[in-house]
Amino acid sequence: MPDLTDAEWVQSDGSLEGIRETIMWGVRRRDFADESRRFEMNPAGGMNLEWEEMAAVAAYVWSMENGTFLPSRGN
Ligand code: HEM
Repeated sequence: MPDLTDAEWVQSDGSLEGIRETIMWGVRRRDFADESRRFEMNPAGGMNLEWEEMAAVAAYVWSMENGTFLPSRGN
């Protein structure tokens, strides 16, 4: 997995919508930024999530860079 807490996005522009798309569709091998990765990312990270759940996960991932959820940042 790439670092999801930094401000560097390789699969999308890092917008809420972009992150949501990555999580909804997953990442195929041909789209890997780092070709040494072993496993593709399946849609919803391989879990059986409802659309609302994927949207909630996307909001959380987005917030790690943009928000205040990370205790390690002293927020
Ligand atoms: C709920 C679980 C998961 C979430 C929320 C998630 C989220 C993400 C996001 C947001 C990205 C894009 C990062 C960027 O644009 O910089 C990404 C990329 C990726 N994820 Fe996941 N992911 C999950 C599970 C998994 C699993 C289970 C695997 C593999 C076993 C996986 C493999 C990958 C790979 C290979 C990439 C692309 C790396 C690259 O471009 O080099 N992900 N994931």
